[in-house]
Amino acid sequence: MTGRFNLAELTRPDLKGLVPYDPHIVPGVIKLDANENPFDFPRKVKEYICAGLQSKLFTRYPDPLARDLLTGLSDYNGVPSNCIMVGNGSDEIILNLMLAFGTGREVVIASPTFSMYRIHAQVAGAGWREVPRRNNFEPDIPALLDAAANPGVSMIFICSPNNPTGNATPREEIRKLLENTRALVVLDEAYLEFGGESAVPLLSSYLNLIILKTFSKAFGLAGLRVGYLLAGPDVVGELLRIKQPYNLNAFSQFAAGAVLKHRDLLRDQVEAIKAGRDKLFVSMAGMEGVEIFPSDANFILFRTPVEADKIFKELLREGVLIRNVSGPGLEKCMRVTVGTEEENGEFLEKLKAVLNVCQD
Ligand SMILES: Cc1ncc(COP(=O)(O)O)c(C=O)c1O
Repeated sequence: MTGRFNLAELTRPDLKGLVPYDPHIVPGVIKLDANENPFDFPRKVKEYICAGLQSKLFTRYPDPLARDLLTGLSDYNGVPSNCIMVGNGSDEIILNLMLAFGTGREVVIASPTFSMYRIHAQVAGAGWREVPRRNNFEPDIPALLDAAANPGVSMIFICSPNNPTGNATPREEIRKLLENTRALVVLDEAYLEFGGESAVPLLSSYLNLIILKTFSKAFGLAGLRVGYLLAGPDVVGELLRIKQPYNLNAFSQFAAGAVLKHRDLLRDQVEAIKAGRDKLFVSMAGMEGVEIFPSDANFILFRTPVEADKIFKELLREGVLIRNVSGPGLEKCMRVTVGTEEENGEFLEKLKAVLNVCQD
């Protein structure tokens, strides 16, 4: 029985174009598509987490402010605890930013970049304007400022190192943005541990700076969903008004704290990933017809003469999953995450074979 109910009449027309996120789950392949840490989670940290589990962690609601974790984050970033807010991944924080400052307004995005800025803007009912990066993928600061001069604009989103192009933006460029706009500048440093200059030292001077960080990449906790934001206390205060009280579960809070305590072990993994990236870059640079772009992150953007979808599908058939990121400004481009040495070797071998087949 449906009675008078008609779902189509009740859905938001502005969300019609959204398609559910496709995580591309393909069992049994070499997974180089999501910029995760490819190494096993360090055994010592796993044991520390297991030993520290107590029943209270499961039967009681978590600390809504994650105060123990904030203490660790404050120490790690050199920023007071009241300038930090944790989230269920930085994805959730992006949505919260859109809900707090974007709904009914407009945000400016330096594109091509991480797709969730646009998606969360749409979900929150914010307008968005994409400002193309330059040919070398550097953000066009004057154009961003120009777009943000519109009084309806509340935030500028910029990712550094940028996903999927890999390049970082110098701190001085970020300073130019901060000094010349009345909008909030959201700088996503999800990949900063792999390269580039952090803008954290600017936080004490610029009240309109918001920095996003995550445990999903260098810190190897993608499965536990922990992200956080650094900003002035007033901005954090505005966000706390709309944050779900129990957004970050007790287990993840505890595990993230444990990772911070053992960050030296994770730092070794980061160094191995950076060395793997540089080796992969040199190998790909030697492949005929492949254009590669320098990377400060844990992935490499590349272009081949063949349609990206064709390369993507052929590689998948060979058991290697990468990401097809082709689109405006990224014609025929793909992104490969740096894996373990064996995974990188497999990828290179399969890519060579696939290019031979596709170009024949
Ligand atoms: C630039 C950027 N920001 C944020 C995220 C999301 O991170 P999290 O896992 O913390 O939600 C990603 C994930 O790929 C990303 O590439």
